[in-house]
Amino acid sequence: MLDIRNVDTAYGSVPMLRGLELAVRPGELVCLLGPNGAGKTTTFMTICGIVRARRGAVHVMGNDIAKIGTENLAGLGVGVVPEGRRLFPGLSVLENIRLGYDAVSNHGDQFDKQLDRMCELFPRIRERLKQAAGTLSGGEQAMVALARALVGNPKFVVMDEPSLGLSPKLISEYFGITAEIHRRGTTILLIEQNAEMGLKIADRAYVLVKGKVAQEGPAKDLAASRVTAGLYL
Ligand SMILES: Nc1ncnc2c1ncn2[C@@H]1O[C@H](COP(=O)(O)OP(=O)(O)O)[C@@H](O)[C@H]1O
Ligand SMILES: [Mg+2]
Repeated sequence: MLDIRNVDTAYGSVPMLRGLELAVRPGELVCLLGPNGAGKTTTFMTICGIVRARRGAVHVMGNDIAKIGTENLAGLGVGVVPEGRRLFPGLSVLENIRLGYDAVSNHGDQFDKQLDRMCELFPRIRERLKQAAGTLSGGEQAMVALARALVGNPKFVVMDEPSLGLSPKLISEYFGITAEIHRRGTTILLIEQNAEMGLKIADRAYVLVKGKVAQEGPAKDLAASRVTAGLYL
């Protein structure tokens, strides 16, 4: 689903990612952990083709992202949840979700069915479909951003700190839904600072520190590891 091999990136002359190696296999839920400024969002942008690799290569669904471009990701079956959600605040909830669907399909005939699936997954969305997205609570906006990523039935979903700013109760609800989506067969790369929650639902995890992988392995091992515990939990 994803293969990041020996990737360097830089902002101007300032190096960011250094020799990054990360892979996500079909069916996995992989968590990318790391403190603020470690390069997690840079990794997300590199996967999306927004930040270019200066060395190495990023393959998404077997395609070199440098060749296919950001605009073709959805069509390849990749859904994304960007940091800060990036909803269109003046558009309705329905219109925001519709954008996720239209990015994948121009037939449009399955939208009602897909929307229904989203409302079943996120019951609170149904009664707010006509409401402007910007007027929703943070938790509701997080659900809409996830629904927008899922409505096109992606095989692979990449999420950048989706639980940021949510209350503990909502965080646990959000991680529960993420685990359920994974159980239903979607492959997930979950980028997170919340190591405790992330490691609970992940199969494998990577810890990114200063643009490099400092640790990787089965989530269970990382949760038990003293290095991870000392640094991040
Ligand atoms: N557009 C940019 N231009 C210059 N520096 C940036 C840019 N985006 C991020 N950075 C820097 O790159 C580093 C990593 O940022 P980021 O990938 O957002 O980290 P994280 O998501 O792990 O908090 C930070 O030091 C940040 O200031
Ligand atoms: Mg970030």
